[in-house]
Formats: sequence, structure tokens, C-alpha cells
Amino acid sequence: MIGRDLLGIEDLDREDIERILDTAEHMREIGRRDVKKVPTLRGRTIINLFFESSTRTRASFEIAGKRLSADVINFSPSSSSLKKAESILDTARTMDAMDPDAVVVRHGTAGVPRRIADILDVPVINAGDGAHEHPTQALLDCFTVQQVKGRIDGLTVTIVGDILHSRVARSNIYAFRKLGAEVRIAAPPPMIPVRVEETFGVKAFTSIREALEGADVVMALRIQNERLEGAFFPSVREYSSTFGIDRAKLNYAKEDVIVMHPGPINRGVELAHDLADHKPSVILDQVRNGVAVRMAVLYLYAGRRSSGPGASE
Ligand code: NCD
Repeated sequence: MIGRDLLGIEDLDREDIERILDTAEHMREIGRRDVKKVPTLRGRTIINLFFESSTRTRASFEIAGKRLSADVINFSPSSSSLKKAESILDTARTMDAMDPDAVVVRHGTAGVPRRIADILDVPVINAGDGAHEHPTQALLDCFTVQQVKGRIDGLTVTIVGDILHSRVARSNIYAFRKLGAEVRIAAPPPMIPVRVEETFGVKAFTSIREALEGADVVMALRIQNERLEGAFFPSVREYSSTFGIDRAKLNYAKEDVIVMHPGPINRGVELAHDLADHKPSVILDQVRNGVAVRMAVLYLYAGRRSSGPGASE
């Protein structure tokens, strides 16, 4: 039984993840129809509460909600309110008073979705909190790998880049490991979290060649400049020549390796210019699958029937 909130992959077990991915499979089919809309969440209200900027995640949740016929309200507080923890909770209470069926939260500080979930009675879905977790990104990444490779169990997934500051890395490490993949990480030493092997069960590499050898999936991550304090590598040029994924480095990996990136991409830094748009990149598949996965998440978390007076079922 999936919990009330989706705050992180760490809280899910393998069955929960598989249930969401199976549901996403059905949702994907809806996205291929001429009329991409079903009445599943008719009469339900979903509030997108994005305290931090977002392009694809917010649009993806909005499209997902609308395809399920929910009313979707986007609320993006100005950055001035970010500084005061009180006003975040007040904003959440204000939104709650409008009786939504789910609230989707993104915030630059780790733990804010959980704090909001503590004070609200409705499901809270984490759309990325600081460097902590980004569960729907990991779910759509797993879904994409499953679609392309037909399985996740037994694959080798190498995540390259700013692991230390990346919520995408954390959620993906949890998700792929729970589904039976071997996860490797590769980064300059300052971007590798301390005790990462013991804590997360991954193998850490500073040699990109070793990290890529035999990899089925390579995931490049953006350097999280907004979360960096101080210098983590000598120069962007050196970073990109050592860790930037290009066709030459892909030769170390398996022949049928795929390349992923959650976006936004810094072309020419973590990923060579030509790689983003062509095979073996599946970056646009990730975006497409993001809608199906978020439909599945909204259906499973926001679609529960209330049993109170006046409930329709
Ligand atoms: C990521 C994020 O916001 O964490 N983007 C996304 O949601 N697709 C990755 C990033 O910003 O680098």
C-alpha cells in the first residue's frame, strides 16, 4: 500500500515503484490517442506550488493533471517569500484552505515538502527539494530505461557529474538500486559525497573510463551552480574534458549504451553538443515519459476516494 505522500524514493519499496511504473504504462497509451484526456480525476483539484524555478517538471505535472481532467492551479510565489520559513507554511495553509486533492511542491531547501506534508491533510508530492530528492524524476528515468532496455534488474547505471548537490542523483541511486541495478557514480572528488559507497551502496569512481566500462546507461548531470559554494574543479573546460560525456568516452561503455540527462542541459559542459539530440540519447523520451509517470503518480496519490459524508463512492 503506497503511503499518503510521495516525498522521496527512499520511503518506497520495490513493489511501490513497480506499481507506479506499471500504472505509467497505461497512462502512456492515453498520450498516444488523438484525444489525450480521460475523466479519471474530474472534479479534483491539484495545486502546483513551485517555490523554485522549473520548466519541464512544472509543465509535466500540469499536463499530467489536465490529461486526467483535474483542475490544475499553478502557484509560483515570488522569490522574496523564500527566505522566511513561516511564509512557506502560511502559503501552504492558504492553499490547503482551498481544498485541493493534492499539492505538488518544489523548493530550494531540503525537507520543505515534508514540513508541508506534516501540516496538511492532503497528499503532498515532492517535485524536487534542495539537494535531497526528486522522486518523479527518478521514476521517469527508471520508466525510460525499462522501456528501452526491457528491464532494470542486472543493468549497470553510471551517473556522472555533480552528485553531491544533485537531488536527481540521490533519487536515482535509490530507485535503480531498489529495482536491482548496479549503480556507479563518477565525479571530481569534491563532488562525491563522503562515505557514499557505505551510505548509498554505489561504487564511486574518479576515473571516467573505469566508471563507464560495461555501462548500459550513462546519466549526465548538470553542475548545480546554484548550490555550489567555492571551487569544486579547476575550470569548466577541464571538467568537460575529463567528465563531459562525448562519443569518444561512450566507447568505454557497452555498445548499446543509452545516454540520459534530466535537463536543463549545459551543452558542451556535461554533454557534448551533438549528443543531446541524437542516438544513443533518450533525453526527449525522458521528457515524454515524464508526463505518463506523473499521470500515474497523480492517479495513485490524488485519486483516492474520500469516505466522508457526500463522498461520491
Ligand atoms: C533537475 C532538477 O530541477 O533537479 N531538473 C529537472 O527537474 N528536470 C535537474 C537540474 O536542475 O539539473
